[in-house]
Amino acid sequence: VQYHAGVSEPTTRVTPLRWDDGLWLLDQRRLPWREEWVRVRDVGHAVRLIRSLAVRGAPAIGIAAAYALAAEAKRCSAIHSLRRAADRLATARPTATNLARAVAGVLAAVEAAPGHERAAAALVAARQQHEDDAEACRQIARHGAALFSPGRVTLLTHCNTGALATGGIGTALGIVRAIHSEGRLAMLYACEARPVLQGSRLTAWECVQDGIPVTLLPDHAAAGLLASGAVDGVVLGADRIAADGSVANKLGTYSLALAAAASGVTFVSAAPTTTFDLGCPSGSSIPIEQRDPGEVLTLLGRRLAPHGVAVFNPAFDVTPPHLLSAIVSERGVARPVTAESIARIAR
Ligand code: MRU
Repeated sequence: VQYHAGVSEPTTRVTPLRWDDGLWLLDQRRLPWREEWVRVRDVGHAVRLIRSLAVRGAPAIGIAAAYALAAEAKRCSAIHSLRRAADRLATARPTATNLARAVAGVLAAVEAAPGHERAAAALVAARQQHEDDAEACRQIARHGAALFSPGRVTLLTHCNTGALATGGIGTALGIVRAIHSEGRLAMLYACEARPVLQGSRLTAWECVQDGIPVTLLPDHAAAGLLASGAVDGVVLGADRIAADGSVANKLGTYSLALAAAASGVTFVSAAPTTTFDLGCPSGSSIPIEQRDPGEVLTLLGRRLAPHGVAVFNPAFDVTPPHLLSAIVSERGVARPVTAESIARIAR
């Protein structure tokens, strides 16, 4: 990425994971109250940590699973047990395509290596994926920031697409960081993202860590804010992008897209090519994770609704391509969003 003199490269002090003789995760279930690192003990532990959102965000769960498989290869290099471990990790959550893809990449490296070199080959592959994602974030930031130039911009985001969700500066939040490093960010509005509150607990925390101006709002305040004309663009992430440009992303993305379209506000999804699944022809073939009713029924351990109510709690929804102004990957910008433009920026 080329940055002009006087403009600093966007950076962050936040990271969701590290390798230190094993995999360590910053436990995102504890944020913003505590910064607590957890050492991943084995594959079963890794699966539970991914499912319970100790690590979350499409690229980050892929990288975490890649390192978890590398850790398993260190413990036992028998190929049949590594295949079983890969299978458990790949299916820990169903929607983000990054997860299965990352695990398949490490497994392929392991299968190509002789027995005594499997652990080393797995770690090299996991590290490479981590570095590739950091570089993809930098390129996404550059392409995405250019969509909003020149001048000062106010953006709105949803969920957490930052350093906590990736191997680098983030996808949509990487775009925000790039605009901020150019001195052009007037304000970032961050939706809370009920029920797990990735917006208030994680995005707001990340912004405070890195000095990014942030204003938190309840999810249902967004439509009115967009209608008021105060926001220049909505930038958010993706968990899986189908061949036709349909975007599965955090629940509430579709409502934001409808509101942005009604008010003529630019609406951009940003994701690395590892999030694209050209094998999914359209949004209806993307599997949507249904989560525990407890996420909706309780808050901080306290029950919010009477016993006996049913709960509808999908983790994600699907936004059709005609509601998106653009999709950004490290390979460039798809605009308008069509099967042809998606094919150009996918890999
Ligand atoms: O359930 P989560 O927190 O894993 O959901 C995360 C999102 O929906 C993000 O927007 C997406 O994974 C992109 S992260 C760069």
